[in-house]
Amino acid sequence: MAALTFAHHILFSKPSVFLHSTKNGFNTLFSVSVPAPFLRRYKSSQTIAAASSLLELGGVKISKEDVVKDEPTNNVPDLIFTKLGLQLHRRDHHPLGILKNAIYEYFDTNYNNQFHKFDDLCPIVTTKENFDDVLVPSDHVSRSYNDTYYIDTETVLRCHTSAHQADLLRKGYANFLVTGDVYRRDSIDSTHYPVFHQMEGVRVFSPNDWNDSGMDATLYAAHDLKACLEGLARHLFGAVEMRWVDSYFPFTNPSFELEIYFQEKWLEVLGCGVMEQEILKRGGKSDNVAWAFGLGLERLAMVLFDIPDIRLFWSTDKRFTSQFTKGQLGIKFKPFSKYPPCYKDMSFWINESFTENNLCEIVRGVAGDLAEEVQLIDNFTNKKGMTSHCYRITYRSMERSLTDEEINELQWNVRDQVQSQMNIVLR
Ligand code: DAH
Repeated sequence: MAALTFAHHILFSKPSVFLHSTKNGFNTLFSVSVPAPFLRRYKSSQTIAAASSLLELGGVKISKEDVVKDEPTNNVPDLIFTKLGLQLHRRDHHPLGILKNAIYEYFDTNYNNQFHKFDDLCPIVTTKENFDDVLVPSDHVSRSYNDTYYIDTETVLRCHTSAHQADLLRKGYANFLVTGDVYRRDSIDSTHYPVFHQMEGVRVFSPNDWNDSGMDATLYAAHDLKACLEGLARHLFGAVEMRWVDSYFPFTNPSFELEIYFQEKWLEVLGCGVMEQEILKRGGKSDNVAWAFGLGLERLAMVLFDIPDIRLFWSTDKRFTSQFTKGQLGIKFKPFSKYPPCYKDMSFWINESFTENNLCEIVRGVAGDLAEEVQLIDNFTNKKGMTSHCYRITYRSMERSLTDEEINELQWNVRDQVQSQMNIVLR
């Protein structure tokens, strides 16, 4: 998809969509469909040394073999494994850490430190935690292997921080914020990266809270939610114009999105709503109501710090990292240079199992962060019913000029892998 929307953010804001077994080759007998056995092929050809020892994630020790497995039910590429444990949101001098701390500050001051803060929960979760516990329907598109990284049929890299809601409620927390890295198979452009960061907020109320308000419990929670998040938006953006838009999420009812008017555009800031009663009930809190919200940190940080490309968050180049200061939200990033892009087009007849996410996984596997954008520039179906796609791949480094030889080699590699792994004939 083009860089028009942050598809990341809207994955859950759609009602469930049935996965068509004929269209994408998925076996829809199971609620979680395992694709045909060629899934493994979408993994990167670059192999990262398995010697890299144990990672510790939220107190859990994990080796590469626990995450990247040569099995048809695993679609985690090496490149994704290398991002585990980096936890950009825990670096106080990093834009994501600065933003997280600014949000913490808002909650600490306005709620008297009542919100428990979690930012080190293990990103490896069960499908139950990621989907079932937050009532994601069994046919919801987010469950597909095309959208989510599966370690095995029952274990995923969390695709949203909502994966921790139910567990924390069960453990008795009533007010909490969960920040973490989340993982989604996705397209390639300046606002999409397969790993990004979210913050989830939950607040639980008891009858005492709403009894004297003259409102019913749901209305009370919705009012409190809106006041809280409007205050947060002002804390981050200053005196901006805002609007509420009705939305849909499986875990909330009613559901809303907050938009702010920023740099002459309406920008979607977060999703939220009154928590579905079923989630509270299962957490042993039938007599309570709660609100919840989820926001994407990159999306906000790109606007607040003027960061033009999502890949920059991962840069270790001093010219990027040295521009930010702990505790300072207002700093605007000054691009240190713009190196020339290089465009390469590639045309092919698609087959039944073709998806853009699979193509992008190959491109990232070959080119890593040198891939700036993968864009569909031509699409037609001939009289025989065959569909041709032409994709333009933009290669560009954030840090240096690329040589022709280097780019040609990347492109040949991509072409090679597209043919062999996706079983596609290039035109
Ligand atoms: N989990 C949602 C997503 O990733 C974001 C979200 C929306 C979280 C509404 C919430 C919520 O807690 O109430 O798209």
